[in-house]
Amino acid sequence: MSETLTKSAARNIFYGGTAFFFVIFVGLVAHSVSTVNEMAINHPVTPSVARGKEVWEKHACIDCHTIMGEGAYFAPELGNVWVRYGGRDDAAGARESLKLWVKNQPSGIEGRRQMPHFDISEPDLDALVDFFKWTSEVNTQNWPPKVSG
Ligand code: HEC
Repeated sequence: MSETLTKSAARNIFYGGTAFFFVIFVGLVAHSVSTVNEMAINHPVTPSVARGKEVWEKHACIDCHTIMGEGAYFAPELGNVWVRYGGRDDAAGARESLKLWVKNQPSGIEGRRQMPHFDISEPDLDALVDFFKWTSEVNTQNWPPKVSG
């Protein structure tokens, strides 16, 4: 019995391995495509959500906040702020509170970190809230573990 790998055995391993991983690759691509399609149907990015993201980017909120863990650690995580403000039980109330929060900054409360005032129009504030709501509905597999972020 030969101890060395023959040329034909090496070729078979190469072709077999290539075919095996190609099939896995095709399977993963199909899975990604179906997941993206499902998200587009069940969790669509509406024009308002897209506008909200633009407002978020324009004012660089991420310079202080994290969203789904991305960003700076100066101010609270906002990926789940919609849930924290009770949006699941009272959508209109959460919308109003979030808009009021942004309008009323800085709070001037002694000993608390301050958020600057941003001059954001009413439609842009609504879009921002739509963006927060949309973000809170992304399946993050229960992250963050605590609702406080
Ligand atoms: C310079 C830093 C800074 C920037 C930039 C900033 N924030 Fe804040 N934000 C804060 C701080 C600090 C707090 C917490 C203040 C407190 O608890 O009194 C906060 C709190 C909040 C809260 C309430 C969070 C909660 O859990 O109660 C919301 C909503 C919010 N910010 C939205 C925004 C949005 C939208 C933008 C961009 C337009 C933004 N922030 C930009 C510093 C910032």
